[in-house]
Amino acid sequence: MNVKENLHITSQELMKTGSPDAKLEAEVLLRHVLKIDRATMFRDLEENLSEDNVTNIASLVNRRIQKEPLAYITGIKEFYGLMFEVSEGVLIPRPETELLVETAITKAKLLKKNEINIVDVGTGSGAIAVSLAVNIPNSNVIAIDLSKSALEIADENRRTHGMYSRIKLRLGNLLEPVTENIDILVSNPPYIRKDRLHSLQEEVLKEPMLALDGGEDGLRLIAELLTQARERMDSTSIILFEIDSDQGIEASKISKNTFPLGDVTVLKDLNNDDRAVLIELNTSI
Ligand SMILES: C[S@@+](CC[C@H](N)C(=O)[O-])C[C@H]1O[C@@H](n2cnc3c(N)ncnc32)[C@H](O)[C@@H]1O
Repeated sequence: MNVKENLHITSQELMKTGSPDAKLEAEVLLRHVLKIDRATMFRDLEENLSEDNVTNIASLVNRRIQKEPLAYITGIKEFYGLMFEVSEGVLIPRPETELLVETAITKAKLLKKNEINIVDVGTGSGAIAVSLAVNIPNSNVIAIDLSKSALEIADENRRTHGMYSRIKLRLGNLLEPVTENIDILVSNPPYIRKDRLHSLQEEVLKEPMLALDGGEDGLRLIAELLTQARERMDSTSIILFEIDSDQGIEASKISKNTFPLGDVTVLKDLNNDDRAVLIELNTSI
């Protein structure tokens, strides 16, 4: 069987599962097994595959049919133009989270500080922490997670991107492991309401529950984080956290109650859905 025939067969198999990206996924799985880039794949469409490679591709396709997320199968996910290692121990970074990174970078430029201290709460794979460290050269980042296995993946990712010395990893609950001053606090916390968890796609449910479950109203951790932050932030600090599309009003209310003198803005993602809250504490709290 040659590459072209294999792509055809595997995309047909994946299509049966209802995947809208079956063709693309077939390519990704084939390239992952052959360890080749896209250009090489197109160049070699008529090349024959070894039996071992055909078997290996079939076994990955089978895992995908069982609804294992593509990124867990390949072990890699792109986020903010960088490649991140992922495994079952971490949430797969989502494109909508790039809004937090983009906003934090813009705000960091306005801070006019020689050194910017950033804290990423619930770092998971370290996608936010690494993207910020790479793009804000005068930053030091503390990345926190309650999950030891997440911190192991974050450790791999900070090393791969040459950020070992600029990102400190800490195990613990929210801001508890931080005593340092914070200029920018970012967080993509678990925010799915408990009663919505069961309706998530089968694939999403293969991700860690600790990364998804936001308690009864989805905002419990955010409220706790903001209360902790209130004790620790100075007057020039910025807080940015991700929310679900239906949490804008409530999250903004909690933010205003916790920081009555802060400027609170709900940010929209590319689909025009509420996706993040920005609190600017430019007056004394
Ligand atoms: C939605 S995931 C975000 C992962 C990553 N920051 C991203 O955006 O892809 C939430 C993360 O928060 C961590 N977490 C959950 N509860 C926590 C807590 N109380 N303190 C610190 N981290 C927590 C989870 O282990 C998970 O890695």
